[in-house]
Order: sequence, then structure tokens, then C-alpha cells
Amino acid sequence: MTDEPRADVVARLRAAGCVFAEEEAGLLVEAATSVTGVDEAKLESLVEQRVAGIPLEHLVGWAEFAGLRIAVGNGVFVPRRRTEFLAAQAIEAARTAHPVVVDLCCGTGAVAAAIGAALPAAELIASDIDPDATRYASLNLAERGSVFTGDLFDALPPWLLGRVEILVANAPYVPTDDIATMPSEARVHEHRVALDGGADGLDLQRRIIAGAARWLAPQATVLIETSARQADTTLQLLRDAGFDAHAEYSEEHEATVALGRAGA
Ligand SMILES: C[S@@+](CC[C@H](N)C(=O)[O-])C[C@H]1O[C@@H](n2cnc3c(N)ncnc32)[C@H](O)[C@@H]1O
Repeated sequence: MTDEPRADVVARLRAAGCVFAEEEAGLLVEAATSVTGVDEAKLESLVEQRVAGIPLEHLVGWAEFAGLRIAVGNGVFVPRRRTEFLAAQAIEAARTAHPVVVDLCCGTGAVAAAIGAALPAAELIASDIDPDATRYASLNLAERGSVFTGDLFDALPPWLLGRVEILVANAPYVPTDDIATMPSEARVHEHRVALDGGADGLDLQRRIIAGAARWLAPQATVLIETSARQADTTLQLLRDAGFDAHAEYSEEHEATVALGRAGA
């Protein structure tokens, strides 16, 4: 077995405060293993970096999301399991088996990839302002979708105007002043542009909701991950923009998604 936790690695990770030390040790050993066995120098380097606080996913090069292995690396936002709920809601909202789906602020493209896995005929478009993120999104979506780099809707090709049936966004929604209280794995090792949602956390959501209409097909659905605390404001923004809006919550995922349905 290549992924059996090694007691020495487990002990070092546990001492460094890793809650899932056994699982992480198995993954680091796996990452340091090739057909010739465990590369001890590589394993040592990985353990040292993990003990120093580098996110596990950046070290092993992937994160699990909706049953998929999503490639991720230095500086790029690690897709959170919570966001599987956003992808599930988008899949449920699809009115046909082949919707045109845009994943705005896509990061690694995890949400689009999960939607694509469930709806193989969906047309997937993903975009992000951070070229490091879109590099990973291009890997994760490969031939399954188109990936663009740029500021929100500016990144999208004009042929999408009026054609988007599912617009999904897990945009940054952490209020600027709350970033200081985030775990260092996020605060130090993920680009600030992936976290900072402005004074009340909703700057990006405001811009997305305000700019969405001209890109949407009739009866399109906009789905935005938000927090339980911010959900009422996200819903109000959707309603003010003319959407029929409601929120869905998942206790299992500790997740909140605001959904807005466009008119006919
Ligand atoms: C919270 S992360 C989520 C990434 C991905 N959707 C996920 O769930 O894993 C937010 C993403 O928004 C991107 N972003 C921030 N500002 C943006 C903008 N103005 N235009 C496009 N993307 C932006 C960041 O680069 C980051 O990848």
C-alpha cells in the first residue's frame, strides 16, 4: 500500500496541530510515492512544508470535490466541501440536460467540473480574474469546457449574451475586516482576491447580480453561495434586480445558496 499512514509522519503532523493527522500522513506518503517506492527526501520536504502551515491540497496538488480530484496549487483557492452544495443546487436547477452554464469566479473550476460530471451534455464556461486560478481551471475542465481570464462578465465571449441558463458563483464574500480572523491556511496561502468581499463582503455579489441580466436566457437561474448571516442581503440584492429569489440551506454542508430565477 502506498497510502498507509506512517507513525513517524502522523506524530509530526499531530504535534503541528493537524486534526486529521492520519489521513494527511497517508496522502503525503502517497504524494511522495512512485513506482520505485517512497521518495524519502520528497516526503521529508512535504512534511516540513505541511508542518509550516502550507495547505495539504497545495502540497499534494489536488482537492476532493464532489467525488472528483480537482487540481490545485500555490496561492489558488482550495475548493471547499461546503461548495458541493452550490454545485448540487445548480444541477437541480437545470431545466434541460444540456444547459449553458457559466461558473463566474471559478477558481479551480471545481463547481463547473462537478456540474459537468452530473450533466455530461452541459456547455461549461468558467472564468476568473486570477490567471493562476484559470490555469488550474483549464486543467480541471480540459476538453469539457472553456475557461477565460478577466474581471467578472468582461471575461466572457459576446456569443453568451442572452444565452446563459445557469449562472453560478462562489465569489469572495468575506468582509475585509474578517480576513484577519481566518485560518492562516487561507489568509496566508490563498490569494487575497479569492477571499476579500469588501466592507460587508458583498461587493462582488452586488456586481454579479447587477451585471447578470443581459447575459441570461429567459427563465435562467442565478445561484450564489453566501453565508447564513449574509443571505438576507444577497436575496434582497437579487429581488431588487428583478429576480424571484429564495435561499436553500444545507445543515450537512453548513452551506447557504441564494437562488434567483429570471422572468420569461
Ligand atoms: C472564494 S473563491 C471561489 C473559487 C471557486 N468558485 C470555488 O468555489 O472553489 C473566489 C474566486 O473569485 C475570484 N475573483 C475575485 N474577484 C474577481 C473578479 N473581479 N472577477 C473574476 N473573478 C474574481 C478569485 O480569484 C477566486 O478564484
